[in-house]
Amino acid sequence: MASVEKTPNEKPLLEISGLKTIFPTDDGIVNAVNDVSFKIDRGQTVGVVGESGCGKSVTGLSLLQLVPSPGRIEAGEIQFYRNREEDPLDIAQVAPKSELMRQIRGNEIAIIFQEPMTSLNPVYTVGNQIAEAIVLHEQVNKKTARERAIEMIARVGIPAPAQRVDEYPHQLSGGMRQRVMIAMALCCSPTLLIADEPTTALDVTIQAQVLGLMQELQAEMGMAIMLITHDLGVIADLADEVVVMYAGRVVERGTVDDIFYNPLHPYTQGLLKSIPILGKTPQKSLPSIPGTVPHPLTLPAGCSFQDRCSERMPECERMPELAVINGKTENGGHAVRCWLHTDF
Ligand SMILES: Nc1ncnc2c1ncn2[C@@H]1O[C@H](COP(=O)(O)OP(=O)(O)OP(=O)(O)O)[C@@H](O)[C@H]1O
Ligand SMILES: [Mg+2]
Repeated sequence: MASVEKTPNEKPLLEISGLKTIFPTDDGIVNAVNDVSFKIDRGQTVGVVGESGCGKSVTGLSLLQLVPSPGRIEAGEIQFYRNREEDPLDIAQVAPKSELMRQIRGNEIAIIFQEPMTSLNPVYTVGNQIAEAIVLHEQVNKKTARERAIEMIARVGIPAPAQRVDEYPHQLSGGMRQRVMIAMALCCSPTLLIADEPTTALDVTIQAQVLGLMQELQAEMGMAIMLITHDLGVIADLADEVVVMYAGRVVERGTVDDIFYNPLHPYTQGLLKSIPILGKTPQKSLPSIPGTVPHPLTLPAGCSFQDRCSERMPECERMPELAVINGKTENGGHAVRCWLHTDF
């Protein structure tokens, strides 16, 4: 768990409020991310969890203005406190293709995805690709960039870096490719790393190694991590704060202790019950929540979880607000979107 000294009232690194990201489709508008609010402090790890289709990836992509067209951010703010002195920049208002957005993507907020093979270019050696990322950020010649690339390959724990530097992505294992992606993402020392299911495609031992590496690098570089995963076990190990999403909305949010020891939303409780016990349950299934996530175009009126919820009440036909239950600030504190914990 990351711990960075914070003075009271210090501004967060990123403050997301009322974020709404939509995809117009032939059948109607998909509200992929709907009224999402949370914050990420400097050096902190925020886990974003929820079943498939809940809007985790689209949230991550929105923060970098990488939502694929015709999708777009429709409402909300993404206040980015680039440094402690200046006023924040609202990323939601920055044009996706602008020079400013390119600068932020390259230097300040980095992203890594689940399947590195789709992000690495198969026709260039990994050394060339890392060197290219280095040259983008620093005024160094090719020779220095290559030396730095070898250093980075060693830093992310790939053996024989002087040989690996000249290999192509297909010559590396999945775990090594993910390490190369991490090396590329960290070349610029970002203040925030968005890691979207960074280890889902890897087997369990390699998963643990790659996550351990991310933690180590985080401690060394002080960056914040937004860790997107459907694996609550990973969240328990790594996150400081947790955001639980369901059907595009935040249904619960709090510290890792709030979520694991005092889960309030029936959905969070269901997710926790379905954490696989090592060696006993197949890893992917979430057996204890009956039913499936509703299609975004056919959400019920009111709480999106009502059809699967054992605590359903007549009130659930109206959408509850995300209510902060322990009196902390707007986008911090333990908050839940459920009539069980909200006054009617
Ligand atoms: N390009 C797109 N066009 C239309 N709808 C999209 C597009 N991308 C995502 N969506 C929809 O937005 C919603 C959120 O998708 P998202 O990829 O963020 O889910 P997720 O939580 O990351 O799921 P997973 O765990 O499977 O990665 C889904 O309903 C999805 O179908
Ligand atoms: Mg996803």
